Amino acid sequence: MDEVVDALRGARHVLVYTGAGVSAESGIPTFRGGQGLWDRFRIEDLATPDAFARHPQRVWGWYAWRMGLVAAAQPNAAHQALAGMERHYPEFLLVTQNVDDLHERAGSEKMLHVHGRLMETHCTACGRVEPVSTPPAPDAIEAGELPRCACGGLLRPNVVWFGEMLEPRILETARKAAARCDLLLIIGTGGTIGGGYGLVEHASASGATLIEINPEPSILSSACYCLRTPAAEALGDIWAAVTGA
Ligand code: OAD
Repeated sequence: MDEVVDALRGARHVLVYTGAGVSAESGIPTFRGGQGLWDRFRIEDLATPDAFARHPQRVWGWYAWRMGLVAAAQPNAAHQALAGMERHYPEFLLVTQNVDDLHERAGSEKMLHVHGRLMETHCTACGRVEPVSTPPAPDAIEAGELPRCACGGLLRPNVVWFGEMLEPRILETARKAAARCDLLLIIGTGGTIGGGYGLVEHASASGATLIEINPEPSILSSACYCLRTPAAEALGDIWAAVTGA
């Protein structure tokens, strides 16, 4: 813990990469690990373009449930600490593969969503993107009333599904930040999807300090100084120590 505090005190250009684990203590289920979503649900039924084409009602039912969970959740001490870091460091970027909006609701602005945003829809006909102010009601979905755009087109969640392309400009910006940063903080990702998108490699090559906060080892752990503590529990205390709050 002391080494992490020292590293954060000395840093000027910080890149943070978060995964589903950063929202676990807000009550949002992760995808893998005990009780993970992919232990209970099948990717091919719910998170591919083909699943949506075959059975939009089933896919919408699952996303409406998840939107409801996120709408009812609150940012935790990790989200708050990361929003504080953005205001503290001269150069800062948060790259998240989380689709929830808890980072934004904690105050983060300098951030990129690699896997899209759950609390937005986009229209399959006209492409219009809209925020989700109220999650669709599960009984409306069950009755076959699926969310529709003003143009009449079927809406879908604005997330990246398996088999879809990530936005190349987002990855390029994230990798450039990794190549320039002096500290890379990796929080709550197993690295299973995308293997960290090359951020660890770019940051290592530039001599940055690499720190992972995750109760479990991940495929990125070997490159990092590892803190095996839940994110909210760890980061609240760490950031208070760095800022003397
Ligand atoms: P995963 O669900 O694959 O992994 C969650 C990680 O968070 C694991 O490494 C856990 O050990 C860790 N974790 C659990 N609780 C934690 C806590 N309190 N504090 C810190 N870490 C904790 O999530 P990601 O690696 O982010 O993709 O992968 C998410 C992507 O995989 C999603 O975007 C989705 C999914 O399949 C798509 O849908 C394309």
